[in-house]
Amino acid sequence: MKVLVIGSGGREHALCLKFSQSPKVEKIYCAPGNGGISKIAELVDLTTGDFTELADFAKKKNIDITFVGPESPLSEGIVDFFVSRGLKIVGPAKDASKLESSKIYAKEFMKIYGIPTAPYRSFSSVADALNFLDGWEENKKVVVKADGLAAGKGVYMCDGRKDAHNAVKKMMEDKVLGGAGSNIVIEEHIDGQELSYLIFTDGISYSVMPASQDHKRAEDGDKGLNTGGMGAYSPAPLATNELNEKIERDIIRKVIEGIKAEKLDYKGVLYVGIIMNGNDPYVLEFNCRFGDPETQVLLPLLETDLLDISRAIVDKRLSDINISWKKGAAVCVVLASGGYPENFEKGFEIKGLEDITDSDVFVYHAGTKSENGQIVTSGGRVLGVTAIAGDIKSAVDKVYENVKLVSFENMRYRKDIAKKALSEVEKAQD
Ligand SMILES: Nc1ncnc2c1ncn2[C@@H]1O[C@H](COP(=O)(O)OP(=O)(O)OP(=O)(O)O)[C@@H](O)[C@H]1O
Ligand SMILES: [Mg+2]
Repeated sequence: MKVLVIGSGGREHALCLKFSQSPKVEKIYCAPGNGGISKIAELVDLTTGDFTELADFAKKKNIDITFVGPESPLSEGIVDFFVSRGLKIVGPAKDASKLESSKIYAKEFMKIYGIPTAPYRSFSSVADALNFLDGWEENKKVVVKADGLAAGKGVYMCDGRKDAHNAVKKMMEDKVLGGAGSNIVIEEHIDGQELSYLIFTDGISYSVMPASQDHKRAEDGDKGLNTGGMGAYSPAPLATNELNEKIERDIIRKVIEGIKAEKLDYKGVLYVGIIMNGNDPYVLEFNCRFGDPETQVLLPLLETDLLDISRAIVDKRLSDINISWKKGAAVCVVLASGGYPENFEKGFEIKGLEDITDSDVFVYHAGTKSENGQIVTSGGRVLGVTAIAGDIKSAVDKVYENVKLVSFENMRYRKDIAKKALSEVEKAQD
């Protein structure tokens, strides 16, 4: 079977590597891919928005199945386009991907189907939004969110009324996020730990992956600027059996019911971002694809053949498949360019990659490219190093031992990935 993976980050490297482990996969293409992916897949020089060229390529090369990594081609309708050309593709159709690409749509969906989420109001006029905020307590935290996709920059956490006024003006008047901020959501702030539940679904049945947690902030102790993600781990010890059951019953089942009732064509991965409100899980957001770097900890734990799962999803027979996971834990540490997520330099040689030889350690490339036989840095997030082991503590130790073997100029990474998980484990042992 021939597979085409769309995207170019660490998530797509993890997808390509997983597909390469299937005995049924004879060839993998990745568009556009990166330096690390080029070692296991043939890179296709097309961008994720070139739908016609990508579909022509898939036809010409007799691709059996395409897997979409990032959200923007999904929200622009790549799945609808491929399907209209008779091609099999994993991902939600354009309408269904609104669960991610419109926060207002997602909030309304949650209201209709009784899914717990922070109380909110949506606005399409700046005057109405400011007027609403005039009634907000001066120092009560509030969250202002752009309705549209904003590459992780569309959420402003505000300390109170004045701060929120500024956020609204920036989004709706100054248009700092372009069209994404024309409409907004203002919602109550919840103080709690976050968890991600990803599911495979064919729109009828679903299979929940182990819970994971990522680390969005640039600096240790969850300080500094927001990033695409500096590390992740799974399974999250916070996700006890009891909580998993509650989330499946009160949230995931209701989401699937909603998808069916709304007749959404959802065949792919749905990412449910949760925040704990005391003991109660609330939905923060949906993403309509695998997370990055959550994929880099989930796929190494996946035992079932990803090609079998992908085919079952597109053929709407996911319930025929038994999806199993390795017993242990996985931890991923992202190695980033100094200065990321702001300005950083690129083009530095990456040294020491060949010194990582442990078969339970995976080095996923995100911002790298091959140049004159050398792998050099080409992005903010450069590599994701993942280790799997019997438990979180051993995975943390192993990942940091291996991170030490790699270097490039101005390399930086967080030293406290999964620290929260370890304290959760200690609490449970007390
Ligand atoms: N109501 C809220 N209360 C507390 N924190 C919140 C709230 N809404 C959002 N956040 C914080 O902001 C982050 C981003 O919010 P959200 O997931 O809605 O945006 P996003 O831009 O779609 O994120 P992503 O890039 O992960 O897809 C959350 O992970 C959480 O840390
Ligand atoms: Mg999102």
